[in-house]
Amino acid sequence: MRILAIESSCDDTSVAIVNDSGFVEICRSANQDWLHKIYGGIVPEIASRQHTEVLLPLIQDCLDTTHLNWDHIDGLAVTNRPGLIGSLLVGLVTTKALAFAKQKKFIAINHLEGHLLAGFLWDELAPQSSRLKFPFLGLVVSGGHTQLVWAEELGNYRILGKTRDDAAGEAFDKFSQMLGLPYPGGVQVDLLAQQGTSGNYSFPLGLTQPGSLDFSFSGLKSAARRLLDGLGAPMIATHLSSLCFDFQEAVVDALMLKLQRAIDLNASPASVVITGGVACNSRLRERSMSWAQKNSIELFIPPPRYCTDNAAMIGYAGAQRLVRGQTSAMDCPPCSDSLEDDFS
Ligand code: KG4
Ligand code: ZN
Repeated sequence: MRILAIESSCDDTSVAIVNDSGFVEICRSANQDWLHKIYGGIVPEIASRQHTEVLLPLIQDCLDTTHLNWDHIDGLAVTNRPGLIGSLLVGLVTTKALAFAKQKKFIAINHLEGHLLAGFLWDELAPQSSRLKFPFLGLVVSGGHTQLVWAEELGNYRILGKTRDDAAGEAFDKFSQMLGLPYPGGVQVDLLAQQGTSGNYSFPLGLTQPGSLDFSFSGLKSAARRLLDGLGAPMIATHLSSLCFDFQEAVVDALMLKLQRAIDLNASPASVVITGGVACNSRLRERSMSWAQKNSIELFIPPPRYCTDNAAMIGYAGAQRLVRGQTSAMDCPPCSDSLEDDFS
């Protein structure tokens, strides 16, 4: 089963060709950071307009580069929820039109299911030494979501904990903005933190009371605001990398605390997956890998190209559903919210 997949839920336009084993033949993405940079955040109208500019050329590019044509494609998958409504619409109507014109199977995918299943992806650069299997515990950390998910089997996902306010990526982006760093912020904080030293500044951990698997990053954000206001610009400039180190450490502490707690409170999972844009963070990768080694946990963190928004993860989710005979109705709508608590 070979799927052509489209992801356009936010500000990345991405097209991939993937099969049901998770092998990514190609994944090409067009980043819009250069367009949103001057506004310090994503402007939805600009994002959807840009998707319309680049989506069809990207699809053609994927087919040309792999020397495939439509006869080689068995189905089309697309993200239809959650995301920016205009951005979702561009991908969804394009995919529906192609499915209709080329007489292909069509399936609409929840973006969060895509992130969750990214641990199954592999390619020529990253052949998998061991294969992820259900059930597993997933930590999805992105710009819009922070969730601990028990993935029992395909389509059976139970949310064990989620953020009550900001997502982890949002916290990174807002801190970066407070420091006057360029957009997008997470990676800037990560890079600066690599030159910093620890323990100079303390940031609070949210929702530490026993039993809670939820996250909260708004207190961290307010504490950062107060600290930076107190320090003033010259001190901030001098201690930039240490500030980034300690802030990043606080976010990673919060994620690791709840990951450990989820393991303690639930049946010990065979595997853990950490995914979503924040899973690109070098400190989170480093700390989670040594934690997994110490606790004999099989940890899967996809390569960064499959952690951030990409169509390959949507293609894999689509392929798995299509091999099970599932398809979506041609009138299925886009949806900006993930309405389900436990999504499927
Ligand atoms: O998964 P993603 O590409 O898009 C969403 O679905 O939101 O995640 C984007 C988020 C942004 O908040 C970005 O700042 C964050 O991932 N991010 C990082 C790093 N790379 C991307 N956060 C911390 N460290 C990084 N290296
Ligand atoms: Zn995402």
